[in-house]
Amino acid sequence: MTFVGQLIIPKQALIWGERCSSGESVCFFNFFNMKVLLAGSTGYLGTYILKELQARQIDFRAITRNVEKLKPLGLYSDQLFKAQVTQKESLLGACDGVEVVISTVGITRQKDGLTYMDVDYQANRNLLDEAIRAKVKKFIYVSVLEGQNLTHLQICAAKERFVHDLKQSGLDYSIIRPTGFFSDMKAFYEMTQRGRIYLFGDGSIRSNPIHGADLAKICVDAIESPEQEIKVGGPETLTQSEIAQLAFEAIGRPAKITYLPDWLRRGVLRLASIFQSKANYGTTEFFLNVLAMDMVAPQYGRHRLGDLFSQLHHQALMDKALST
Ligand SMILES: NC(=O)c1ccc[n+]([C@@H]2O[C@H](COP(=O)([O-])OP(=O)(O)OC[C@H]3O[C@@H](n4cnc5c(N)ncnc54)[C@H](OP(=O)(O)O)[C@@H]3O)[C@@H](O)[C@H]2O)c1
Repeated sequence: MTFVGQLIIPKQALIWGERCSSGESVCFFNFFNMKVLLAGSTGYLGTYILKELQARQIDFRAITRNVEKLKPLGLYSDQLFKAQVTQKESLLGACDGVEVVISTVGITRQKDGLTYMDVDYQANRNLLDEAIRAKVKKFIYVSVLEGQNLTHLQICAAKERFVHDLKQSGLDYSIIRPTGFFSDMKAFYEMTQRGRIYLFGDGSIRSNPIHGADLAKICVDAIESPEQEIKVGGPETLTQSEIAQLAFEAIGRPAKITYLPDWLRRGVLRLASIFQSKANYGTTEFFLNVLAMDMVAPQYGRHRLGDLFSQLHHQALMDKALST
């Protein structure tokens, strides 16, 4: 324990300024008077970060273009900032009084007709400009594992361009580099419902996907972490075949897996590059490329994929029972 003003607070709560090892130094910053701005709060990861900030009683403000989406999360009205992050002028004042910005803003399934450069790069650049103007101390940004080595992909080109700008900004920063999210693992469960899981190659590609709740803890811990690049994945490293097995185990059926030759994946990629719109191709391009790469990062968290598949199955059975 150490003293800050008249308060006795745990040392872990102190960030920046001098560490108050003897109680003599002045700490100008701690969790109790710090304000965080969260951008991306309506998304899969952003919602878990919002809940983590609430659980730790960290003062925060959430930017959203759609206030309705945040209503079920019980925010006070002064915690909401309505803005469109792609429109720079709407962000004016968003960072006033804020010490740390956390951004998970990026295109995943949105169909706004915008490109990764418009959102993953420019919208985050708009946030960064506003953070610099408001003298924010730290910017935490969620990119992707290996993004710096995948800049030939549209999504990573945009994300890493922002990472470059952030590194040049003069602000403290942490770049979070996660593996795939549990939200994308639903695709395995959905294939079991159609009777068979299709995998490209021999199923030996490995990854350790991470649950949003586990990753949210890492993002919030980053507020006081001196680490500038944080690679992180979930607690289980599995091959694609093992993931498929887990999905079938959850529904209590023997695994039916078809292994498709890898040239087919490359062929689909090629066709998609010709026939899909640029915006849609970006998603196909990213997923079909990472499907063929090991995506393994230091393990963290407690959420397991088998439990996710069981929960999805339980939910599907409940929905079916309610609809009959
Ligand atoms: N999914 C993965 O496996 C994975 C892996 C590594 C890294 N990442 C990255 O992690 C970040 C968070 O992922 P996620 O799964 O939480 O994504 P998500 O659920 O789609 O959330 C993205 C957030 O960005 C906002 N956004 C997107 N397009 C926007 C636009 N045109 N204007 C304003 N806001 C916009 C969304 O707002 P609305 O709710 O209003 O649309 C939402 O709050 C993304 O940058 C993603 O690329 C994802």
